Amino acid sequence: MSKNVLILMGSPRKRGNTSILCEEFARGAQEAGHRVETIYVARKKIGGCLGCNGCQKNGGTCVQKDEMAEVYEKIMAADVIVLASPVYYYTWTAQLKAVIDRTYALLATMHNKVFYMVSTCMSPDESWCAMMIDSFRNYLACYDETVTEGGYVFGFGTGEPGDVRGSEAMGKAFEMGKAIR
Ligand SMILES: Cc1cc2nc3c(=O)[nH]c(=O)nc-3n(C[C@H](O)[C@H](O)[C@H](O)COP(=O)(O)O)c2cc1C
Repeated sequence: MSKNVLILMGSPRKRGNTSILCEEFARGAQEAGHRVETIYVARKKIGGCLGCNGCQKNGGTCVQKDEMAEVYEKIMAADVIVLASPVYYYTWTAQLKAVIDRTYALLATMHNKVFYMVSTCMSPDESWCAMMIDSFRNYLACYDETVTEGGYVFGFGTGEPGDVRGSEAMGKAFEMGKAIR
């Protein structure tokens, strides 16, 4: 069955390594017949969560009126969501973290999603990415059991845009997208 795949691309570099890796994931998913949309969240005006708990009292609507409104709609319509971010000081970019925090409004309403993580980093291997993986998994654990992990991929040793090309991660990202069921 054809799925709606939403990529939340959190690098400020639109043509950088994370974006390139996401394109491979998208290519695989499209080849398998799925619809893919990418939102470059760093290009959007999305404020950080205010912690006002308004959303928890009003059925899940954030009090802030900004470009997160469109992201909420697309998250709710998606079957598959990709959290894509380079590693910045061992974790997400601030831009993607703002989106993640704003999904606090969806704590009671977000169901039936499969999440993937696509990431790149300067570090040479996964031993440097434990915080990223923990953060990804612990994030998913905050939702109900219908919100699950599909997998993750890291492009290692990437500094300049394009460094990820030709790496093992490219094939892994493609296959991961293609394997979406
Ligand atoms: C502010 C900043 C912090 C970074 N922190 C890390 C880090 O903690 N670990 C790491 O391996 N690479 C780190 N990097 C390197 C980037 O993760 C890496 O170059 C990545 O491929 C950039 O992705 P992009 O090309 O999609 O922008 C950092 C880069 C920047 C700009």
